Amino acid sequence: MIEHNISLKPYNTFGIDVKASSFGRFGSLDELKSLLQNRDKETPLFILGGGSNILLTKDLPFFVLKNEISGMEVIDETETTVAVKVGSGVEWHSFVRFTVEQGWGGIENMSLIPGSVGASPMQNIGAYGAEIKDTFVSLEALHIDSLELHTFNREQCQFGYRESVFKRALKDQYVIVSVSYQLAKNPIINTTYGAIQSEIEVMGVNEITVDTVSQAVMNIRRSKLPDPKVLGNAGSFFKNPVVSKDVLAQIQMDYPDAPHYPQENGDEKLAAGWLIEKAGWKGKRIGHCGVHELQALVLVNYGGATGNEIYDLSSAIITDIHSKFGVTLEREVNIL
Ligand code: EPU
Repeated sequence: MIEHNISLKPYNTFGIDVKASSFGRFGSLDELKSLLQNRDKETPLFILGGGSNILLTKDLPFFVLKNEISGMEVIDETETTVAVKVGSGVEWHSFVRFTVEQGWGGIENMSLIPGSVGASPMQNIGAYGAEIKDTFVSLEALHIDSLELHTFNREQCQFGYRESVFKRALKDQYVIVSVSYQLAKNPIINTTYGAIQSEIEVMGVNEITVDTVSQAVMNIRRSKLPDPKVLGNAGSFFKNPVVSKDVLAQIQMDYPDAPHYPQENGDEKLAAGWLIEKAGWKGKRIGHCGVHELQALVLVNYGGATGNEIYDLSSAIITDIHSKFGVTLEREVNIL
C-alpha cells in the first residue's frame, strides 16, 4: 500500500516533524519488488531503516520506503564459528543481544548502537574498539533499476571508517535486504578500550563473558548517550577528524593531553567530542536544540526543533572548531 503526506516524526530518532510525499512499507523481498515496480518512477526513492542517522530539514518530495524485513537464520556452522543471516529491517541491538545470549562473540562491543541491521554495513558501524567489517561475511542487495538481487562480499563493500561503497560509488542504487555475520563460539573478549575495562571492574564480576562486555557497553552508553526516546538525537553528529601530525603538534602546544589515535598511514585521528568541548560548546542550548551535556559529539532536540535549527547549530560548531583548531569537522549524520 502506498500512502501520501505521511509525517516522518515517528521514523527518525531526532523526532523531526516533516512529511514524505509518499510512503510504503516492505516486510520481504517480494513486497519491496512490488513497491518498486508499481511506483511513480519520477519520484526519487528514499530507503528508511531505523532513522537513527538522518537529519530531516524539509518535507521530502520522495517515495519513502520503510524497511521491515525480519528474520535471523543460522546458515553455516563449524566447531568454532557460526554464520547468521539477518533481515535488514531487524533492529541492530536485538541481533546483538541474540548473539550474546547464545554466547557467540564478535559484535558484543557494538551493543545498543541505534539503527537497523541493513544500515550496519552502509557505514561500517563501530564502537569500543570493534567495527562490523571484522565479522561481516556478505550481504544481499536488490539493484533498484534491474530488480536483480546481488551478493557483495567484504572486499566489494569497500569498508572504511564509517564508510562503504553504498555511501560512495553505489549510493542510492541498491536496497540491502539481508546481511550475514560470522560469530565465534570461543570468543576472544576485547576490553582494550579503557572505559570497558573500568566498567567491568565496577560491575565486580568474576568471569568475563561476551554478555559481561555487552552489559558493560550498555552501561557506558546509557550513562553518556541520550536515549532517543527521551531526547531526540542521532548519536555522533560528526566524524572524528583525521589530521596530519603537524596539526596535532600545533594543538598539543596548548593541550598536551589532547586525545589522539595514530593511524596506519602516520596521520592522527582526533576526538571531535573533545574539540567541541574545549571550544566551549558542551551543554550549550540554542533555541530548541543543543549540544549534549555529557557527550559533546551528540546534538539533541529538546522538543520542537526543526532540522534547519539543528543544521545551523552544526554549521556554527564547524566554523568555530575551524577557527580555533584549524580542523574541519565533517558531519556523520546524513542531511536530507
Ligand atoms: N571527549 C571529551 N568530551 C566529550 C566527548 C569526548 O573530552 O564531550 C573525549 C573523551 O574523554 C575521550 C575521547 O574524547 O578521550 C573519545 O571519546 P569517546 O570514547 O566517548 O568516543 P568518541 O570518539 O566521542 C566514538 C564513536 C561513537 C562510539 C564511541 C565509543 C565516532 C564518530 N563516534 O565516539 O559512536 O560509541 O567512539 O567507541 O566515531 C556513533 O557513531 O553514533 C557513536 C556514538
